[in-house]
Amino acid sequence: MSSPDGIKQRGYWGSGLGFVLAVVGSAIGLGNIWRFPTEAGQSGGGAFVLVYIIATFLIGVPVMMAELAVGRRTQRNPVGAYRSLAPGSGWGLAGGFAVFTGLIILSYYSVVAGWTLKYTWIAFSGSLHGATPEAISATFNNFIQDPGPVLGCHLLFMLITIRIVMGGIQHGIERAAKILMPVLFVLLLLLVVRSLTLPGAAEGLSFYLKPDFGMLDVKVILKAVSHAFFSLSLGMGAIITFGSYLSPKQNLVSSAVWVSCADFLIAFLAGLAIFPAIFSVPGLEPDAGPGLIFVVLPNIFNAIPLGHLFGAAFFILLAIAALTSAISMLEVVVAFTIDELGWNRRRSAIAVGSVIFLLGIPSALGNGAVPLFAGTLDFVNEYFGGMGLVLGALLVSLFVGWKWGTGNAVEELERGRGTFRLGQVWGFLIRFVCPLAILTILFQLLRG
Ligand code: TRP
Repeated sequence: MSSPDGIKQRGYWGSGLGFVLAVVGSAIGLGNIWRFPTEAGQSGGGAFVLVYIIATFLIGVPVMMAELAVGRRTQRNPVGAYRSLAPGSGWGLAGGFAVFTGLIILSYYSVVAGWTLKYTWIAFSGSLHGATPEAISATFNNFIQDPGPVLGCHLLFMLITIRIVMGGIQHGIERAAKILMPVLFVLLLLLVVRSLTLPGAAEGLSFYLKPDFGMLDVKVILKAVSHAFFSLSLGMGAIITFGSYLSPKQNLVSSAVWVSCADFLIAFLAGLAIFPAIFSVPGLEPDAGPGLIFVVLPNIFNAIPLGHLFGAAFFILLAIAALTSAISMLEVVVAFTIDELGWNRRRSAIAVGSVIFLLGIPSALGNGAVPLFAGTLDFVNEYFGGMGLVLGALLVSLFVGWKWGTGNAVEELERGRGTFRLGQVWGFLIRFVCPLAILTILFQLLRG
């Protein structure tokens, strides 16, 4: 192997394909299938979707290339990466901010992932088979108000995540991503077909795809842009960390493009499955909030022969998609403690994972179980999953564009592929378009 010793000790990807699939695994998760329809539904549908698409390709793709370049050049966790490219400056703090954001995001992400575990069981048991839409909604509301099962599922999900991260990069992450993502894709296609053929589907399609520009205010734009970062796993150093395990042969530019296309495709299909069904079933509303897919999907399964088995398969695959994303978030913090604090991988995964479990308890119990924690999940989802990532992405683009320099970054991007002909365009996007777009939004937001 031509890889430097440093990579060998920290772990490295078994193959280029394994890496791309692992980044796809990180990108595709609850963000695509849970968060995207939830946010789009709350923010008026088509207008949100349009901004999300533009943000993904105009800002997300360039930022992903920037994170990959920083990661591979430094072969370090986010804190070490910033520090080693700008020694003696305050930039290490930007890495610290990224690691902290990741910790908080995973704490509530795991709670929702726990819901998918529970729903795998609910679907499989057949208890919602043939149930009325009201009964389906009631099942969800009863579940999230019951502390025991909600905490149990959150715990179970964190334990599995910890176990895989303990096993290290290659064995844990690559294997899970390789096999299961294609199966999820096929199931999602089936759901789309069923949903689009439900009576009343057209109304949902038009909500989803026809932008109502009256809905576009700065809040919606911020939500759509930050969701693009969330969905692509950007802004908290996950892609820096994954890039740090890369061999010099990998083509970073095409990796970023492929990953983003795959991620967008899955989110888009999820919307095509969810929105027609919402408008076809009486009593369902697009702005239902975090429970949206858990009350919509069972109604679709009920319109499919053997739907409860489909449902169980779908939820377990969604849980696995969430797992490959959660792994990438935990890996960021674990890589930080290994590189900077000298911990070993096992101890770090257990300690950090336990802290994250504890931090997630208010999000788990804030949905009706414990009044004191009411609204925690929505709050952290909005401020850390939203604003935190936007700030993280702003820092990455400022750092790469103005501190480390796009010349150095392009040099890194050209390793393993040859001349990057659009390098200038990329540099312009990273130096000007990304930071200015983000700063404009933040400025408008402050003005109220
Ligand atoms: N992108 C993942 C999803 O869509 C979630 C995720 C994983 C993430 N790693 C991240 C989000 C890093 C932000 C930052 O479900």
